[in-house]
Amino acid sequence: MKEQLIAIKSQAEAEISAASDSAQLEALRVRFLGKKGELTAILKQMGSLSPEERPIVGQLANEVRSALEEILTKKSEELKTAAMAEKLKEEAIDVTLPGKKQELGHKHPLTLVLDDIKQMFLGMGFDIVRGPEVETDYYNFEALNIPKGHPARDTQDTFYITENILLRTQTSPVQIRTMEKMKPPIRIISPGRVYRSDAVDATHSPVFHQIEGLVVDKGVTMADLKGTLELFAKKLYGEDSKVRFRPHHFPFTEPSAEVDVMCFNCQGKGCSLCKGEGWIEILGAGMVHPKVLSICGIDPEEYSGFAFGMGLERLVMRRYQIDDMRLFFDNDIKFLNQF
Ligand code: PHE
Repeated sequence: MKEQLIAIKSQAEAEISAASDSAQLEALRVRFLGKKGELTAILKQMGSLSPEERPIVGQLANEVRSALEEILTKKSEELKTAAMAEKLKEEAIDVTLPGKKQELGHKHPLTLVLDDIKQMFLGMGFDIVRGPEVETDYYNFEALNIPKGHPARDTQDTFYITENILLRTQTSPVQIRTMEKMKPPIRIISPGRVYRSDAVDATHSPVFHQIEGLVVDKGVTMADLKGTLELFAKKLYGEDSKVRFRPHHFPFTEPSAEVDVMCFNCQGKGCSLCKGEGWIEILGAGMVHPKVLSICGIDPEEYSGFAFGMGLERLVMRRYQIDDMRLFFDNDIKFLNQF
């Protein structure tokens, strides 16, 4: 029986150390140490031994059992470690692989200059308000003293959604919307997209941007308008820039003016940039027409105001010496990357 025990031990040891996964190992445990296992089978025959032999064989059997249990545990640990190592190897991430570079965009030149202009007016105490691009005939024309049939409508043909709903041709309707909502003192600018049914060329686009300005308070005069726009021109074109006001006509301002800035390229001498004029027109302006104030429920006897409106594209074209307005809307990376 001793020989049998020793044979089982060496047999078990050999098979256990050769096991390649935990399922195999479990099968071996059952086969050698289980209730119906080989070791148990031998112990069942102990009854046939002599009383002298029994304890000796019993002790040997116990030694074999604990030896086998030990190597089973050891082997099981080894297999687990190996399995983990294998798994880690399979799931390894190669952190040395170079990443994909994210291309960062940046602001469009129109937005860059608009941001500057907003900052200038915020510094002068103006608020920024927005108005709808789809507008009614009333706000875009009627309330601005441009009734149906008025010749000013001819120069601002637009896209009609219905007879009375259209894409706004100017940011001036925001003047009306603001005066309807806010009580004076009012000091706002309103930038935004406007539309006209113009054919596309180097200086025209059916979509462009305007920035409207409106100030209404007690005792506002033409001097305030001139002071504000002079300051604006200096901030935009430098301390020594000069502005001039030329009489003009807008239906919603009285008196009205067109405002020019002295050409910064030739200092008024005349060059290709200003087409020999020496001056460049930058905006339209005037004192808010008393009729427009009344329409908005503001008493023109008590309050007065000024308004101005400028085209953003022209300003940006001059700032960066861009000669074709279409470049703003083409989405050409080669163009946009320059800013
Ligand atoms: N809305 C006018 C235009 O588009 C510009 C303007 C605005 C003139 C405000 C006077 C006052 O031509």
